Amino acid sequence: MVFQDATAFIFNNKGMSSSMSTKNATTSGWKAGDRSPKIWKGKLTFIMAAAGSAVGLGNLWKFPYIAGENGGGAFVLVYLAFILCFGIPLLAAEIGIGRSTRKNAYSAFDSLAEKTGANKHWKKVGGLAISTSYLILSFYTVVAGWCLYYFYISATGRFNDPAQSFDKSFTSGIFEALLASPISLIIFSTIFLGMTYAIVTSGVVKGIEKTINWLMPSMMLMLTVLIGYSAAVGDFDAAVEFLFMPDFSKLTLDSIIIALGHSFFTLSLASAAMITYGSYMPTDNSIPKTAFAVAGVDILVALTAGLAIFPLVFKYGLEPGAGPGLMFISLPLIFNDMPYGQLFGSAFFFMMFIAALTSAISLMEPTVAWLEQRFNWTRNKSAALTTLSLWVVSLGTVLSLNEWDSPIFFGKTLFDALDYLTANVFMTAGALATAIFCGFCLKQEQLEVMFGKGSLAIPSFKFTMRYLAPLFVATLTLASI
Ligand code: PFF
Repeated sequence: MVFQDATAFIFNNKGMSSSMSTKNATTSGWKAGDRSPKIWKGKLTFIMAAAGSAVGLGNLWKFPYIAGENGGGAFVLVYLAFILCFGIPLLAAEIGIGRSTRKNAYSAFDSLAEKTGANKHWKKVGGLAISTSYLILSFYTVVAGWCLYYFYISATGRFNDPAQSFDKSFTSGIFEALLASPISLIIFSTIFLGMTYAIVTSGVVKGIEKTINWLMPSMMLMLTVLIGYSAAVGDFDAAVEFLFMPDFSKLTLDSIIIALGHSFFTLSLASAAMITYGSYMPTDNSIPKTAFAVAGVDILVALTAGLAIFPLVFKYGLEPGAGPGLMFISLPLIFNDMPYGQLFGSAFFFMMFIAALTSAISLMEPTVAWLEQRFNWTRNKSAALTTLSLWVVSLGTVLSLNEWDSPIFFGKTLFDALDYLTANVFMTAGALATAIFCGFCLKQEQLEVMFGKGSLAIPSFKFTMRYLAPLFVATLTLASI
């Protein structure tokens, strides 16, 4: 099957129709005679899938540590402004590109460029987006492996040993020992990658919609309990001040670039995931409303994660700019003396692992879908080759945390370079190109297919895509050069 997709399988229990009506086909850009695309049914299905992609390690692991590294409040404010001004319109654009073409990212740009008479090289923006998702997954899988390792050690009582004195040197020691052990890193990231492969290749986890249904509420519940507990034992006032009182003197050009890149990363933009998922979105779902809902959930999870972590950071004298280990070093500090800490700690890391898994599926899907369609390979072959090659690339990431722990790119190790480059260079460039494409190449007709005839969203969308986003990103890029 040419247009075969794991996520389509995953979501296809009862919900998904295997064919579209002629009416829908016309309004969605499909001509009669095209191969029937898979469409998710149900109003919430798409929102759940997109939220599952957006909410992940970016919210729980990355946001707190980059907020810490970049001075807190002012960075958070700029990040929120970017989500509102650029993230939400771009999210709508990508979902719209997917839904109006019902194709993978590369072919979606190709077909829209052809329809609008634009330059055929626009399809390379789709190619860049697919490569970005591939590169992100090569380090995402390693961090997800950390969550699995932490689940394992929490469940086996490592954080609840009464004989152990619990302080930051103990929890930092555990984290450093993990990074120093290539074998542990390889084992846990391989399990994670294997699970992602299993889901993407066979769609066996038909209940991913159900998973996301329980994941989101339980994640919010756990984060709320964590906030409560960490507020009770930690320094909550200092955390609120750090996260929400902007001190603009701490804002540098680099932190603005990082905030911009993270607003794309956290919404899964410029990496083909939202275009691919958009291609399964039912025609009667509202794209602007969906984009706001997904961004709202995403922001909420990131801010609650920050509010759970920083009271502990200040109470226990950790460095807010401690880097990627921040969450793994700070949270275990309270699992020790919390009632049911062993159960709660392991449940928390398990939930984090599942949140990473729902994002990883959306990171693997664009490459697999492209391989299937480009080379006419089976889904299994495409997924297996993607996974195997990713596994090899991820070994580089693993080794850059220990054996090859030396700077290879502007003073950054391979791990840090991939993390920085994907979000702040590739995604920013991809988002800029997407904005220009939507602002200048798409015609009123395509925008109406995306947003509906006479939609009030169209003029502001066009203005943002045509002027606001390109001018802002170009200014920022020039200033940084
Ligand atoms: N948005 C995800 C997170 O915050 O963890 C990461 C991500 C998923 C980025 C899917 C890009 C993507 F295509």
